[in-house]
Amino acid sequence: PSQPIIAVSILSADFGQMAMDCHDVINKGADALHLDVMDGHFAPNLTMGADMVKGVRKHLPDTYLDAHLMVERPQDYVEQFAKAGCNNFSFHWEVTTDNPERNNRVEGVNATDLIKQIHDLGMDAGLVINPDTPAQALEKYLDQIQVALVMSVWPGFSGQKFMPEVLAKVQWLRENGPDTMRVEMDGGVAPETVQACAQAGCDMIVSASAVFGSDDRQAVIAALHDGAKY
Ligand code: DX5
Ligand code: ZN
Repeated sequence: PSQPIIAVSILSADFGQMAMDCHDVINKGADALHLDVMDGHFAPNLTMGADMVKGVRKHLPDTYLDAHLMVERPQDYVEQFAKAGCNNFSFHWEVTTDNPERNNRVEGVNATDLIKQIHDLGMDAGLVINPDTPAQALEKYLDQIQVALVMSVWPGFSGQKFMPEVLAKVQWLRENGPDTMRVEMDGGVAPETVQACAQAGCDMIVSASAVFGSDDRQAVIAALHDGAKY
């Protein structure tokens, strides 16, 4: 339907030369940058926070910044991410009060309230589902969110293998969500797997290791664009 967006995840960038790497992939055809935020609790890794958004924003004033919060309490960070210059704020369905498995270690967040807060701060809102969460979990939010993000790996690290079994969820989201809602795929997407994602209905693609791991980043981003137009 709409032009596909290729969002390059900076998780595979060289953190010691972040601005340079961001400029590089944008100059080589990336449409947006994806920022993977982890707190060491929801996902078994520590990555970056709002200061990274701020730093990237300072060097790339016009780039769409897509933040993916893999944290227990996304509600604690929404304001600082907005102030830092974030365009999209995506949080996991698994940390919301809708998740029956949510234990009392951390109190769940009300998804509708958080979506409203994200919108009030001028950002697009996204809801993310882990590989074992059904697409139907997002049903009541499809008219409120701009992005439904389907994880095709377990949150934590770049460079993992794409899980094709999540493609059926993309199909369901595409069929049941409004045309204006993007369906984003994240994890193990490379030129070899992007066409299946697009065919299922994805119009937003995340890629970290396939892009940063290549010595011809321009060719990889072009291949992702081509495959995503499928
Ligand atoms: C996984 C992150 C992904 C990841 C993608 O926890 O949400 O965005 O960095 O990396 P690749 O493209 O290497 O699978
Ligand atoms: Zn991500």
